Amino acid sequence: MTYQNRPNDLEAFWMPFTANRQFKQTPRMFVSADRMHYKTDDGRSVLDATAGLWCCNAGHNRPKIVEAIRHQAGELDYAPAFQMGHPKVFEFASKLVNVAPKGFDHVFFTNSGSESVETALKMALAFHRVKGEGTRFRLIGRERGYHGVNFGGMSVGGIVTNRKFFGTLLTGVDHLRHTHDPARNAFTCGQPEFGVEFADELERLVTLHDASTIAAVIIEPVAGSTGVLIPPKGYLERIREICTKHGILLIFDEVITGFGRLGTPFGVDYFGVEPDIFTTAKGITNGVIPMGAVFVKKEIYQAFMTGPEHLIEFFHGYTYSGNPLACAAGLGTLETYAEEGLLTRGAELAPYWEDALHSLKDLPHVIDVRNIGLIGGIELESIPGSPSKRAFQVFLDCFAKGLLIRTTGDIIAMSPPLIIEKSQIDQIVETLADVLKAAA
Ligand SMILES: Cc1ncc(COP(=O)(O)O)c(C=O)c1O
Repeated sequence: MTYQNRPNDLEAFWMPFTANRQFKQTPRMFVSADRMHYKTDDGRSVLDATAGLWCCNAGHNRPKIVEAIRHQAGELDYAPAFQMGHPKVFEFASKLVNVAPKGFDHVFFTNSGSESVETALKMALAFHRVKGEGTRFRLIGRERGYHGVNFGGMSVGGIVTNRKFFGTLLTGVDHLRHTHDPARNAFTCGQPEFGVEFADELERLVTLHDASTIAAVIIEPVAGSTGVLIPPKGYLERIREICTKHGILLIFDEVITGFGRLGTPFGVDYFGVEPDIFTTAKGITNGVIPMGAVFVKKEIYQAFMTGPEHLIEFFHGYTYSGNPLACAAGLGTLETYAEEGLLTRGAELAPYWEDALHSLKDLPHVIDVRNIGLIGGIELESIPGSPSKRAFQVFLDCFAKGLLIRTTGDIIAMSPPLIIEKSQIDQIVETLADVLKAAA
């Protein structure tokens, strides 16, 4: 076998969220990508059913984005993010608030989903303090939630393997229970019927801690990384009601659901439930340059705009907040989304996607199929004593057959680029069916 550009030594790079030893024995390398496909270093074409890592919503190698970055690199490579500005960051912020749900008038730039989460949590804590309610220090997340890998996000997150190695985490954090209820909801198309009452647990936590100590609740509208958990009907509405009743800020983590994934620009639009703050990253630049953004309502921003005008209002930010190349990539991305109607294209494809995925329900080992927008989850029965082994083998077998999926535990999660064609949805399902039929 001849490989294109394969390095001789793979040892130095400690790969993130990867089985390093397994990978380095049998590497899986991408060397190029175009639209719906990756090319491997042994010359194979691989259909991308995960939009990279839930981020390349417009597919790969999109000309407007590539050209914007090339041009920007030659014009203004970097400008200090603190006490200085550059035109593109203001232009991009204005365009973003135009596509954001009404009322989210301000945007704070970060470099990743994890940083967006830290930023949102800090905003919530500081907001209460500037409003004279500094006793609200407590943060509430949810079991199985994923909010990135930094300490705040880990603390409010609820994925055991991501937490148990890392000490005490933040204090003053509590968790709602997750909403997964396969006994009642397995094989539901779209939002499950059962489970609105899981939201009432927030009332229980308020009774336990007292509302005056709680700053914010953070949840993913659709939990992605834990393996696609879709909110039961009425659940998000109920969480919103309880937060409003007790003066608690609601943060939606839209790092995955943002930018068209559900067939609407944001999850806020899809569910018609409004948080006070929402986080984004990934699709904001089509995944091409690292970037994230936190959207807030006017009231949140305005609360900080007090005191002497020469003083910094919010002691937070990153060297690369609003980096010129990232902004250029983001502008090229928004143009691509607009020209091709990608922020709503998922809605047209969702019924086809749903039918295709649910056609897999009777295959061996499949214990649940879940879908919403252009997200799909297929849960497999675990091999007794070897959790995640079955799904990992399915991932390897799909890759060998030219299909990129993602697995988490024994759940297959899919989120293809929003430019996908129906014939490519067929290909995903046919490949998965072949692999599942042969799976041990
Ligand atoms: C909901 C959610 N929040 C935060 C993150 C973290 O994003 P990043 O990996 O860019 O730090 C992710 C990543 O998948 C996510 O799905």
